[in-house]
Amino acid sequence: MLTSDFLQELDKLTAKYEKKQAALLPALHAIQEKQGLITPQAEADIAQYLGIPVVHVHEVVSFYHLFHQTQKGKCHFSVCQTTSCALRGAEDIIEYIGKILDLKPGETTADGKFSLSVVECLGACEMAPVMQHNKDYVGCLTKEKINELIKKTV
Ligand code: FES
Repeated sequence: MLTSDFLQELDKLTAKYEKKQAALLPALHAIQEKQGLITPQAEADIAQYLGIPVVHVHEVVSFYHLFHQTQKGKCHFSVCQTTSCALRGAEDIIEYIGKILDLKPGETTADGKFSLSVVECLGACEMAPVMQHNKDYVGCLTKEKINELIKKTV
């Protein structure tokens, strides 16, 4: 159920668009920012608010890797595995993160500190291999850069 505060936030968001439905992506970002993930209930609430089918909301949530259907760790590594990054060592980076944190792609550590995701092109191929560390892009990845980010989180 959307709170009255959040409904006011959505009203402000949707007011920027000619059609309320066009605010789907910002509405989803707002709810994820608030809850850390987008639950089936949140999908239903957003669909009802925007007057669109819930299946449409779910299609968007499940298509974009930026939206999380499960809670992610405080430190979320989303490593690109597409061509440019693959050619410049993304597989080694993914393997390294997995080994030192004992994680497989799609998993979160039991303490909730770290998550690892493998994603498609982040649109920053010039920095390959690249990942998103939470909301920040980190390019020209090395094991040393990974170690620094892990140290900051522990
Ligand atoms: S291929 Fe990795 S950012 Fe484009």
